[in-house]
Amino acid sequence: MTQWLDVAARDDIPDDDVIGVDLGGKSLALYGVEGEVYATDNICTHGHARLCDGFLEGHEIECPLHQGRFDIRSGKAMCAPLTEDVRTYPIKVEDGRVLVELP
Ligand code: FES
Repeated sequence: MTQWLDVAARDDIPDDDVIGVDLGGKSLALYGVEGEVYATDNICTHGHARLCDGFLEGHEIECPLHQGRFDIRSGKAMCAPLTEDVRTYPIKVEDGRVLVELP
């Protein structure tokens, strides 16, 4: 059973920016790119670093700790030292709010 959770205001996520949101034990990173919003797990799959503290370039987020990069559209790990993709989540925007589908 999945659920759509209201996680942020659309206006909180400007283009070329990333924010972190904490939802009862889970942390998500929300990205704005070219008018679209994307969501991934916020914790890097390599170590304990928050992707929202990283550097967003185009559709790639660079981890602040060892500079691993993920494609935020697919979650795909793009380079070493990453070996595991990061989880992505479906998004929809309704009435100025960002909703994320969580399993
Ligand atoms: Fe992210 Fe190492 S913790 S690349």
